[in-house]
Formats: sequence, C-alpha cells, structure tokens
Amino acid sequence: MRFNDETVEQVKAANDIVDVIGQFVKLEKKGANYFGLCPFHGEKTASFSVSPRKQIYYCFGCQKGGNVLNFVMEYENFSFTEAVKHLADRVNMPLADMDAYKEDRSERDLKEKLLQINKEAAYFYHDKLMSEDGKRALEYFKDKRRLAGATITHFGLGYSSKTPGELYRYLKEKGYTDGELDKSGLITIDEKGPKDKFWNRAMFPIMDTNNRVIGFGGRVLGDGMPKYLNSPETPIFNKSNILYGLNFARKSREKFFLICEGYMDVIALHQAGFTNAVATLGTALTEQHARLIKRYTDTVILTQDSDEAGVKARIRAFPILHDAGLKVKIINMGAYKDPDEFIKANGPDAYRKCINESKNAFLYIVDCIKAGYDLSDPAAVTDFYKDIAERLTVFTDDAERNNYIKAVCREQLIEYNDLKELSDMAVLKTGRKPVPVSTVAPVRKQEPEIVADPKLLKCEDLLLYWMATRPDIIPYIEREVSPEEYGTEIRRLIASEIYAKRNRFVVSDFIDRCREEADRSTASTIFIGQMYRTEDDGIDDRSLEKLLTESLRTLKSGKLDQKIKNAGSDLLLMQRLLKEKEKLRSIQIKIESK
Ligand code: CTP
Ligand code: MN
Repeated sequence: MRFNDETVEQVKAANDIVDVIGQFVKLEKKGANYFGLCPFHGEKTASFSVSPRKQIYYCFGCQKGGNVLNFVMEYENFSFTEAVKHLADRVNMPLADMDAYKEDRSERDLKEKLLQINKEAAYFYHDKLMSEDGKRALEYFKDKRRLAGATITHFGLGYSSKTPGELYRYLKEKGYTDGELDKSGLITIDEKGPKDKFWNRAMFPIMDTNNRVIGFGGRVLGDGMPKYLNSPETPIFNKSNILYGLNFARKSREKFFLICEGYMDVIALHQAGFTNAVATLGTALTEQHARLIKRYTDTVILTQDSDEAGVKARIRAFPILHDAGLKVKIINMGAYKDPDEFIKANGPDAYRKCINESKNAFLYIVDCIKAGYDLSDPAAVTDFYKDIAERLTVFTDDAERNNYIKAVCREQLIEYNDLKELSDMAVLKTGRKPVPVSTVAPVRKQEPEIVADPKLLKCEDLLLYWMATRPDIIPYIEREVSPEEYGTEIRRLIASEIYAKRNRFVVSDFIDRCREEADRSTASTIFIGQMYRTEDDGIDDRSLEKLLTESLRTLKSGKLDQKIKNAGSDLLLMQRLLKEKEKLRSIQIKIESK
C-alpha cells in the first residue's frame, strides 16, 4: 500500500458512501439502510443495500460488498491507488503522500504497470504515424478512410512499423521488464525471443471510460489477413466490458447511444458529429456492455452492419439491452454495409434522417425472422407465430407485452387472439418473472471449513453485528465466546479485532484489510445487518439483552452438541460436556446503563 492507513481513512471519512454511490445508483431509504438496483448485475428488484452508519454496501443478489473504496474500484475499474486519488479529488483533499507515491515505482501493482505500458505504446505508435516511416499509413487514414488530421489526433491513431522489435526496444529503454512486457500483450516472448505483436498495421488505441489506454486494435493497410488484430485479454483488457468510443460518447449531449460494429464506424460517426457512437470490439454484445451503457443513457439505436452477421448481432443484442432497462431502436441504412460507408456516400444529414426514422427494435426483429418462414405453408405460419410468442417473453410486464402483441398483429396482419394465446402459453412455459428480493438467499461463498453450521453462523453474525454497532456490549460477548470459537476464519478475524479495538473498531477500515473478495463479501453481509434483528427494528436495551442472550445460548449449545456428537465413547468427556450444557441456562446478559 502506498498511502498510509491514516490517509486512506481520512479520504474515506470525507466521502460519504451514500453520496458517492448515489451519483450512480438511485437509492431509496428503507429503515436504517438505502436500497437500489445493483450496478454490478442485472436485476429488476432492489437487492443492493448501502449502510450509511457502517459506510458499506452489499448486494444480496450477487454478494458483492465493501466500503466506498471498493465500490469505486469495482465501478470505475480503478486500482486501489486510483480509487484513493479519485475520492480525494472529489472532495478537493490534497494528498500528502503523493511524493511517496512517485518513489515507490517498484511496488506499483501490475495493473498500473500495464496501463503505463499501453500509454507509452500509444504515444510511440502515434509518433510513428507522424514520422517518415508512417507516411503510407497516414495516407491510408487520410485518403482511403477520409479522416481529418484532427480526428486522427482525437482518437490517438498510430502506426506500428515494419522494423522488427521497435516497440520492444523502446519500452525496454523505459525500464520495463520482459515479464511486464509479456503480460501487456504488446510483446510476445517465446523461445525465439521477444517480438512486437503488431507489425505494419494502422493502430487504434482502445480507451476505457477514464481515457486510459488499455489495449489496441491493429488493421492491415491493404487487404491482408487477418484484417484486424487485437490485444489479447490482459488484467486490464477484457473485451466483454469495453466499448470503443465510450470515453467520448459518455460526454455527448444526445439522449441516446448509437451502437455499431467497428473501430472505423465509430470514428467516421464521431467525425460526422455523432459523438454518441460506440462499438463492441468484434465480439457479441454482453450483459456487462448493456449495464455499462445504461449508466449513461436510456435509449440505444442499433446500427450494426447490414449484412447477415450484422442483422444476427442486432437480434441477439435486443433482449440483453432490453433486460438492462434500455429502449432499443434500429436503423435502416438501405444498401450500405455500415455507417462508415453510408456517411462517406451520403453525408451526415442523410444519416440523421435515418436516425429519425429508426424503427422499434422488436417490430424490426419480427420482420427479420419472418423472412425465415415460408408463409404459404400453414405449418410454417404456426411456427412463425410461436417464434414471435417466445420472443415476446422478454417483456415481463403484462401491459407492455400486450401492447407489443397488438402492434405486431397490426403490422403482420395476425389475429390478436391467435398470438395472445400462444404468448400466454410461452410465458407460462418460460415463466420469466422477476424474483422478489426476500427469496434471494445470500449464497455464502465457499469457505474451507464447511463444517460450520449455517444456523450457528447466523448467531455469530448477529453478535458481531451488535458488537460493531454497540461497543458497550463487547465485554459481555467476549466473556462467553473466544475469538477461536467462531465458525470461520474471517469471523475469527473480525472477532479478535473487535475484542482488541473495542469502540475503535471501524467496519469500513476492517474491510480495507480484507485481501479476498469473498472476505469482503462476508464482512459486508454481516455488518449490513439485513439478515437478523438490527437496530432499525427499533430495539431497546431490554430486548437487546434478550436477543443477545438467546443468540449466545443457541450458539453455545449448538457448539456443545457438535462436541457431544464427536465425543464417541469417551464417557468422561461426554459427562463434562453435558454438565456444561446444563450451565448454559445461567447465561444472562444484563446491559448496565451507560
Ligand atoms: N474485427 C476483429 N477481427 C477481425 C475482423 C473484425 O476484431 N479479423 C472487429 C474489429 O473490431 C472491427 C469490427 O470487428 O472493427 C468490424 O469488422 P468488419 O465489419 O469486418 O470491419 P469494418 O468495420 O468494415 O472494417 P473496415 O471498414 O476497416 O474494413
Ligand atoms: Mn467498414
């Protein structure tokens, strides 16, 4: 860790978790906690909770949890250091440790190294493009692709030259090791030695939402194969959650996003003034992409290629986008292959007209699948209707689905009752209904000692929760349960910290010390306190005494039962355990008023 603990604690203290998360998630107060739709997995009922008192969040649907730093790291894809800096900036807090930060080069985590390498490479390729070596590539961009100089700079386009090993030597001089370069994916190192991955290609740096270069696409200048080559997956480059152009599109004033297929489509659209265009990186659109888009807009217009693959991509993308809560429309580009070609041929105004005439995605999809049925054959007609009915199940809201049934019937000249009946059947069959939050049981992450009985763990969690909430009760619990008696490693750790720190135990600081995501998740679910009686149930001291007494008795008697079961034929031990069990009745917590 580069910042000292105190700095990190100050930064956290200055950034209230409800304010920070509230910028991205609509939160509603219910009891002591806030609830909203989880930004980390698709859901329709709010199982994402934030505790203002404990300064943590936890999702009962996907089990992600942590403090305000973990949230920013997860949401913005930041490293720990970046998250600290980001939150410090947010509240204009100067970071005294910035000097230590500079010196500590060797300790930077791998992700930060890879970001640096990609950034250096982007500058390297761009300078190459502008040099004598890059003449042909620059001509390609300017003449063949009709890109203005400003566009080339804006997107940071570049060129990887024909000279072997140029980038490798450049980066080595900058002090990166072979291991780091190999992991960046820009250099491949095998028994024949190091090789630049990209060679004689037009280079497209790929940036994340925070304008950091995380990978590259490289296109051949002519007709060679493969046409495009991309960075391999690395710790900072995962195609299923990156959209090309999103760093610019998120700042566009348009109310919708345009989704297209290629780097060149995005660039051509932006150059023509449509700065709200994004593209997947040659992969199918994923749920993660959809959620990413939903952060910035409610409506998308699909403008993938007009060929068969492009149409398939649109049909596939629709339910994913719809499930993420997006309105979806589709553009008809007539005979033109993609937005790049359309704009080259017809100009921006004609494309704007296409946008204005874009069609409801579902009605478009019905049109497309219709082509696959020979409707002169009555059997095929039924299949076509069934196909529509099944696709209609994406609309989980009955009223909405019914509106679609009516619209499809009107357009396709189908009898309303015919389609309605099939649709009802399809809904029954697939039963796509949102799951109410109360039935989403928190699946505990696998922990090595599965012997722990969930019922007893719940008692432990209740005790831990209350000790963190009311430090005055710690001595009563400490007397009865020693740290090593808790059922899992993480609970033992929490207990010993609470016992040691008493009222100086801070939940969100403890979470900073959890290395494993599973531990953060367990700690968050314990302290968010939604699984047992908590302070927002309006509890007074007498009821709390009763609750703690009951939990302690259940816990201790459960532990003894386990021991009795394992005692086997050791009668003496058995007797002793039974006697201990007798004594449990005398456990009685009495909270002395403060
Ligand atoms: N792609 C890829 N690998 C390939 C071909 C395509 O990763 N071998 C990805 C690239 O992200 C590309 C997108 O798929 O931008 C669309 O590919 P395609 O439609 O074939 O290319 P165009 O956009 O027409 O490319 P260009 O206009 O440069 O010919
Ligand atoms: Mn193209």
